Amino acid sequence: MSFPATRMRRLRKTGVLRDMVRETDLSPARLVHPMFVQLGEGRTAIESMPGVARLSISQAVVDAGEAHALGIPAVLLFGLPAEKDEQGSGAYDDEGVVQLAVRALKEAHPELVVMTDVCLCAYTSHGHCGVVLDDGSVDNDASLELLARTAGSHARAGADLVAPSDMMDGRVGALRAQLDSEGFKDLPIVAYSAKFASAYYGPFREAADSTPAFGDRRGYQMDPGNAEEAVREALLDVSEGADVVMVKPALPYLDVIRRVKEATRVPVAAYNVGGEYAMVKAAAERGWIDERSTVLETLTGIHRAGADIVITYHAKDAARWLR
Ligand code: PBG
Ligand code: ZN
Repeated sequence: MSFPATRMRRLRKTGVLRDMVRETDLSPARLVHPMFVQLGEGRTAIESMPGVARLSISQAVVDAGEAHALGIPAVLLFGLPAEKDEQGSGAYDDEGVVQLAVRALKEAHPELVVMTDVCLCAYTSHGHCGVVLDDGSVDNDASLELLARTAGSHARAGADLVAPSDMMDGRVGALRAQLDSEGFKDLPIVAYSAKFASAYYGPFREAADSTPAFGDRRGYQMDPGNAEEAVREALLDVSEGADVVMVKPALPYLDVIRRVKEATRVPVAAYNVGGEYAMVKAAAERGWIDERSTVLETLTGIHRAGADIVITYHAKDAARWLR
């Protein structure tokens, strides 16, 4: 059937009709609010991410409460330790910043889902995501042990979900074994499965002070041209016990989100990263785009591509606008 019998505009005539036939409905229940937590008092602005700040634990409790009240079910925690060392020992310190923050958040908001980023890069003096050898390369298997310890420590602090973001081979299996051995058989793993070596992480690295002191992350994060490999990474993570797989960043990789969703048939998360956030904020500040409609269109697109869960620094604003 074609024109004139078919007129696509008939169902676009009014808002009510458009709402009735909308295929993708974004809701705050899909969103995760990422947070940077630091020791000590006060908040520190992050220049390249206007509206996002490093928060003290007590401020994080307030901020997470606001997010929860807006209908956002979960937060994702990143910790900024007081000191960094070669082995990233702050990551798996039971009294470390994330561990303290998790306890405080769960005590104040028992219903809030607290998810933790499991990686070493914010805790290592060299800024790499694993253990660095004398030749500057990252030792995969030695890193697994420290990452597993980190996840165990987060679980004991009360984390509801752990999200390894290091891109070492075998880390999902290592985390699963560690969690099971510590009695956390039901604690889900959200694997950053297809994490690309991206220029869009720049603002995050300012926030977490985690820019590698030498080299780059291309020895472990993925090459931006590879979608087939992303599917393989996701399938491997599922076979090692990942409950949710993640694609990151989101916007340059919408095709990867769709392919990973279709290939794995497990819930997919997408991370709308700092650089994606910074672009929207910068253009909106100049009056070049409308922030509200740009954000809602962007997040709808990520969800439509196949992401069941969307991690975004716009979460609180979006939740407000979606009400
Ligand atoms: C740490 C980590 C990174 C992000 C999440 N976890 C940065 C990186 O790999 O350098 C990026 C988040 C963002 O850019 O908003 N491995
Ligand atoms: Zn890392």
